[in-house]
Amino acid sequence: MTADRERLRRDAERLRPEELRSHQWYGTEGQLRTWSHNARMRQLGYEAEEYRGRPVIAVLNTWSDINPCHVHLRERAEAVKRGVWQAGGFPLEFPVATLSETYQKPTPMLYRNLLAMETEELLRSYPIDAAVLLGGCDKSTPALLMGATSADVPSIFVPAGPMLPGHWRGETLGSGTDMWKYWDEHRAGNLTDCELRELQGGLARSPGHCMTMGTASTMTAAAESLGMTLPGASSIPAVDSAHERMAAASGRRAVELAWTGLKPSAILTRDAFEDAVTTVLGLGGSTNAVIHLIAMAGRAGVELGLDDFDRIARTVPVLANVRPGGRTYLMEDFHFAGGLPAFLSRITDLLHLDRPTVNGTLGEQLEGAVVHDDDVIRTRDNPVASEGGVAVLRGNLCPDGAVIKHISAEPHLLKHTGRAVVFDDYKSMQRTINEPELGITADSVLVLRNSGPKGGPGMPEYGMLPIPDHLLKQGVRDMVRISDARMSGTSYGACVLHVAPESYVGGPLALVRTGDSITLDVEARTLQLDVSDEELERRRKNWTPPPTRYERGYGALYNDQITQANTGCDFEFLARQGKVSAPYAG
Ligand code: FES
Ligand code: MG
Repeated sequence: MTADRERLRRDAERLRPEELRSHQWYGTEGQLRTWSHNARMRQLGYEAEEYRGRPVIAVLNTWSDINPCHVHLRERAEAVKRGVWQAGGFPLEFPVATLSETYQKPTPMLYRNLLAMETEELLRSYPIDAAVLLGGCDKSTPALLMGATSADVPSIFVPAGPMLPGHWRGETLGSGTDMWKYWDEHRAGNLTDCELRELQGGLARSPGHCMTMGTASTMTAAAESLGMTLPGASSIPAVDSAHERMAAASGRRAVELAWTGLKPSAILTRDAFEDAVTTVLGLGGSTNAVIHLIAMAGRAGVELGLDDFDRIARTVPVLANVRPGGRTYLMEDFHFAGGLPAFLSRITDLLHLDRPTVNGTLGEQLEGAVVHDDDVIRTRDNPVASEGGVAVLRGNLCPDGAVIKHISAEPHLLKHTGRAVVFDDYKSMQRTINEPELGITADSVLVLRNSGPKGGPGMPEYGMLPIPDHLLKQGVRDMVRISDARMSGTSYGACVLHVAPESYVGGPLALVRTGDSITLDVEARTLQLDVSDEELERRRKNWTPPPTRYERGYGALYNDQITQANTGCDFEFLARQGKVSAPYAG
């Protein structure tokens, strides 16, 4: 409490009530509009003393009946509101789009920018002084933060929290990761239908996002590392009572953010993004973070590119022994080992400790952080991997870059030349991959195209192409696979992803033919199609672009505006820096 008071005292530049943004709606006397806004507040059941002169805190809630990762957020919003009331604020809940990784087709990535746009415009158009953002299933985190960044309204993020670990016949199961693994075992004939059904009931056993170090855990950790959450918030299990307490504390903190006017633009600096990159790489996190962080940085006016990831990756060891990057543990173990502050306390020399967060400086966020289990959060001299989890590749197959999570691949594949077997799209791949005529061997390089930002569309998580049945039965569990798709953060293997430019817009991936030779060399950071430039040019002349996917609606806007993977897949008109001149925009 003393520390809290001290912090509040340091937040010296506090706004006066009439300087609050909401004052423009509720406080300016003698105007019809103000009179009418107050009349409508009475319609809502509030007297002026309950809200006038108090910070209005928007609680943006991605709860939905169909989103198992967010199904507890209806209750958590109540805890946030409790905190807001306690601190003298006035909470208002806004239901916003829910992005559910499990259900949305072709992929919720198609809608990340839609939620970002919704977030930005709600925060801009309503009488809001600060926001609490509730989300966590993969794209929700970047979407909410991108919107809040563009609106530049003081905001704090409440991560949905990981679900409890899965269990089946004495084994601990990781959502996503063990789904892929046991599905393959079933296909290989090592698991009966009955066992598979039993396993299905134990895989995801509580509300919360995936509890592996998948995209959700990676992105909520990135949000914490950026400085947009309370310290330690990102790993608290969704159903732990500590999660409710964190939600209430975030509500209280949001009120202070409103008074101090601490905006995302003051927090989301180049230093913050470098630290977030360091964090996700040191966690062995999801490759999706590469796309999301580049897009988030773009909103903050910070230049961040693939080369930053590759450069930082060479300096940061993977210390989190959490599946699938690590071998053993799940998010609950990570939490009880000390969570993100404990993890960051092991790499303070790689971080910018003096930068601001929603709750003091990063250095202050890490005060007192201790690792309680050196096998879950490894020491620097005993890392899971000696360098960060993602490598950026270049070459004639990916002039604008591609990524590989090499720490989750079988090491013998990291330098590999093989015969390409090309699939034009996901459906035809599914249909034909087991056909013996394709002549696929363990050394083949499986290539999937038309799965990028425009071609997918939405860059679905197709990147971990299935191993053909006959090879699975021979014990093959990894192969080199190349696509312009993404891969689930819970997936693994020698999968080259995010090839840019994508094939749908005529990137070189469009020109590969079955039988070509492809060389991957992760150490040299290259991906090369062993075909002459003249031959490629000849093929290019014969290439015709695929037909447009959308003639109307949101898809047409998406197709028109989406940028390539190496620049974050934001919409061009949203990524752009520039003035928004609207009344009450300040
Ligand atoms: Fe929501 Fe994995 S399905 S985080
Ligand atoms: Mg996922």
